[in-house]
Amino acid sequence: MSERYVVAIDQGTTSTRCIVFDRRGQLVSLARQEHRQHFPRPGWVEHDAVEIWRNVERLAPRALRRAGVTIDQVAALGIANQRETTVVWDRHTGQPIGRAIIWQDTRTDALVHELAGQPGAKDVEERSGLPLATYFSGPRLRWILDRTPGLRRRAERGEVLCGTMETWLIWNLTGGEHVTDVTNASRTMLLDVRTLDWSADSLDFFGIPRAMLPRVRASIGAFGTACAAFPGVRIGAALGDQQAALFGQTCFTPGEAKCTYGTGSFLLLNTGTEPIAPAHGLLSTVAYQVAGSPACYALEGSIAITGSLVQWFRDQLELISSAPEIETLARTVADNGGCYIVPAFSGLYAPHWRSEARGVIVGLTSYITKGHLARAVLEATAWQTREVVDAMNATSGLALRTLKVDGGMTADNLLMQMIADVLDVPVVRPLAAETVSLGAAYAAGLAVGYWPDLDGLRRNWHIAGQWIPAMDPRLRATEYANWQRAVQRTFDWIQ
Ligand code: G3P
Repeated sequence: MSERYVVAIDQGTTSTRCIVFDRRGQLVSLARQEHRQHFPRPGWVEHDAVEIWRNVERLAPRALRRAGVTIDQVAALGIANQRETTVVWDRHTGQPIGRAIIWQDTRTDALVHELAGQPGAKDVEERSGLPLATYFSGPRLRWILDRTPGLRRRAERGEVLCGTMETWLIWNLTGGEHVTDVTNASRTMLLDVRTLDWSADSLDFFGIPRAMLPRVRASIGAFGTACAAFPGVRIGAALGDQQAALFGQTCFTPGEAKCTYGTGSFLLLNTGTEPIAPAHGLLSTVAYQVAGSPACYALEGSIAITGSLVQWFRDQLELISSAPEIETLARTVADNGGCYIVPAFSGLYAPHWRSEARGVIVGLTSYITKGHLARAVLEATAWQTREVVDAMNATSGLALRTLKVDGGMTADNLLMQMIADVLDVPVVRPLAAETVSLGAAYAAGLAVGYWPDLDGLRRNWHIAGQWIPAMDPRLRATEYANWQRAVQRTFDWIQ
């Protein structure tokens, strides 16, 4: 019999990837397509959901062709996706109603403030494990329903549907399955993280008709069979991309953690089969669930802007022409020259949760060059990681001993050293760079018996790089204090 493979779709914030993996978890081929970012107003960020689906249709044959694999050799398909991004579409035509509103979008700021003062707000937070913030899908859905004439009535009749990106893709792949998985559902504020079902009280609180919501399934199980893009292939798994990365890093045991450096950065710590009450600005979230087994939970420290800041430096300031150049530019200087950039473009997430905060550059003098700015851009990612690790240590009562990292930014060796320096713990990067896709592939492969168990997957994890802390402790303390003063300025800016 010919060799079989597992395919993953990683539908991320800036691009969609389609990756073919073999039984050893090795990448056989990759096809990638960026999609357009729409910024119609300050703080607003949108994607065209149809453009993203068309990209998946184009990428599927490209990835298979590059791998030399035919569709009947694909054992299963797994999906990982940018989380919280919200799409609403017409059940009959399949056409989206407006563009998808992205997780970074802050248009619901005033609504979130209003909701926070209403009775029941604390219960919603407690049930969902999340703080009321613009980041999550629930407020976003309420905003869409409030502003589109007649939409709520149509939603009550089940004529319009909603979902996060995996729901939208599965709907299109299967020709009409309307489902989500527990990890993505746990980012809406509408799920009760203990019962793993939509909470009637939370739906009431946000004024969202249940008829428009997808059915919630275990992340590793059955999501139907594709009839488009991968016709005849079983969809075995769907997970939010950060949970997929935790899975791809094989953090299956409580106490294991990883941080993925993409558009934003997300540190997740496996906490086992009971959700932990979030504290210090962390979130309680579902890590994954195998059908028929209890869910596994995680604590998460979410950072909104890290890779996006490099993108902004490249596209809006035009100080570099490709993202990797930032490392070369930052290496032209020995330090930041006293300059700090706090990228509160979407407010600040963990541990602050201040959606009204706005970005600042402080410490500018005529001495500052673009090299210093490049360095400050990279340091912003390192210090934001430090804030999240401090919160994680305080909440879990444990001190993180090593940080497993992945994601596009981990190719930047200077940044990896900075992170080890500011955390004062070693940073390790696995050989498998595409951890999000690998996690989705592992999950889908487990669902269909392509891989027998978690232990086999653990054996596929190999170290590729390690960075050891080398920063003078006094310098670390002074720089951290400076960073924290700069963060304070993002709040001072608020009227
Ligand atoms: O919560 C947002 C996150 O899922 C986005 O991930 O990799 O697309 O920036 P990424």
